[in-house]
Amino acid sequence: MNPSTSNDDDLNEEHKPTDADSMHTAKIMKAMLSYRSFGREKLCEVISSFRSLSNEHIQLVAAQHTKHIRSCFDCVDENQKFLEMVVAFSANMFGGEDQAIQLLNELAPATNHFMDKVKSTLRQVIREWSSTGAQEREATYRPIIEELERRFPTDRENIQILVPGAGLGRLAWEFVERGFSVQANEYSMFMLLTSCFFLNKPLELNSLTIYPHTLETSNLWSYEDALQPIKFPDISPGMSDECRKNTFSMCAGDFLEVTKEDTEQFDCVVTAWFIDTANNIISYIERIREILKPGGVWINVGPLTYHYSEMEGEVSIELPYAEVLRIVREKGFIVENERGLESSYSANYKSMLRYLYTCAFFAASKPKMPSEMKSPKDEASDATQQAGTSESSEDGALVVPVSRIKMIYDTVPDVLPLSADGAAALSMAVECLAQDLLEKVYKRAKNDEIDYDDVSAMIRSEDELSWLHEFVPKRLTYEKACSIIQNKENAD
Ligand SMILES: C[S@@+](CC[C@H](N)C(=O)[O-])C[C@H]1O[C@@H](n2cnc3c(N)ncnc32)[C@H](O)[C@@H]1O
Repeated sequence: MNPSTSNDDDLNEEHKPTDADSMHTAKIMKAMLSYRSFGREKLCEVISSFRSLSNEHIQLVAAQHTKHIRSCFDCVDENQKFLEMVVAFSANMFGGEDQAIQLLNELAPATNHFMDKVKSTLRQVIREWSSTGAQEREATYRPIIEELERRFPTDRENIQILVPGAGLGRLAWEFVERGFSVQANEYSMFMLLTSCFFLNKPLELNSLTIYPHTLETSNLWSYEDALQPIKFPDISPGMSDECRKNTFSMCAGDFLEVTKEDTEQFDCVVTAWFIDTANNIISYIERIREILKPGGVWINVGPLTYHYSEMEGEVSIELPYAEVLRIVREKGFIVENERGLESSYSANYKSMLRYLYTCAFFAASKPKMPSEMKSPKDEASDATQQAGTSESSEDGALVVPVSRIKMIYDTVPDVLPLSADGAAALSMAVECLAQDLLEKVYKRAKNDEIDYDDVSAMIRSEDELSWLHEFVPKRLTYEKACSIIQNKENAD
């Protein structure tokens, strides 16, 4: 995967040359630096609504409300200070501070869409880098980490993990902390700038404070709930061990774009709250299969809140979970540890409104044997494979195509349906049996070639293989067979 410059955040602009990328970065910075005026404007709107009240009503609410709005102005200022720190630090890291700042003045004011992104970036900070977010991370990151640690107990610096849709990088960083080598991928410049700040700037624990709910006016139990201060970071990656053996990088750009040249590169792909960001989820499944090494694992957690749903002019293929899972299996993955996990996402725990998702969790293994995975190329050659028995792969190893297993299965009447992973498991078992037989034949072989007679002799000599005796009988010469038949007729 070649790190590239970022695509537009959620706006699907085409990937453009460097000038356009700098322009885009500048637009994002402008939005981040416009937070104060945006916030003030919102608060002024609230004030003018209250001014429209009758004198009697104003008297009823004015004292508390005025005090609250003053505090909100202060909170907006504090949020702005944090956003300025991010812009100042990350602009340097991206090597474009001067250029970006020069561009800022030429830009039109940030749109509401971008300002919504600034607000959700503040909430994402809480989810990923504060102890307030620990509950959410525990609910869906912990099971991923446990699955990963169980599957890869040793030699972790050589285990390559890809984390697409990495957000602010916390999950990826948790893997790095545990010794794995990680590539994170993210296409939103809001996320990239802010993750750059957290992952690289040395920060004292809980030294920063923001007020992410300060512009909220609905579902509040009290004014204080809009003024909750959230301290962060709960840990500081920017201060972590420089002498690690494992590697960590962040690749900017669209997942499908930046991985298009990759094949069998990763031991593990972790998608956390990501697969529903696709226009077409099937292309994500196929890409994950392509970039995983044989024997690698895809660990997924998240809901199916399709990102492009109801977005005008956007393709959005919205499949239910059962279909997604069927396709994952159809593509040859063996699905394990599948279950639902309850979690909120960037929730305000003091709000009267909180969404609770039941996320789908699964670990899907790509089988070790290439024959068990159906790539588009495999599918094209399936027709040929159906006709054959066993085939030789390029390296000469015996392979039993899953399609062949399915064909055999079709000849057995009245059995239950065979799933893709059931067929893959059977195929694997057949290969193991063939290998076991070969080893036994090889031990007894007298010539420099194993022929039918060797295989047949070995099978007939083993009582536990008696079920195979009639399928691989002893070979007779024509004369010998005639003589046996003649003797039998004489005896009759
Ligand atoms: C719902 S957030 C999840 C973030 C993080 N994984 C978490 O658990 O909090 C989805 C993330 O995927 C990113 N994203 C969406 N589409 C993407 C794409 N095509 N390529 C890379 N990142 C993408 C978004 O910018 C966003 O940060």
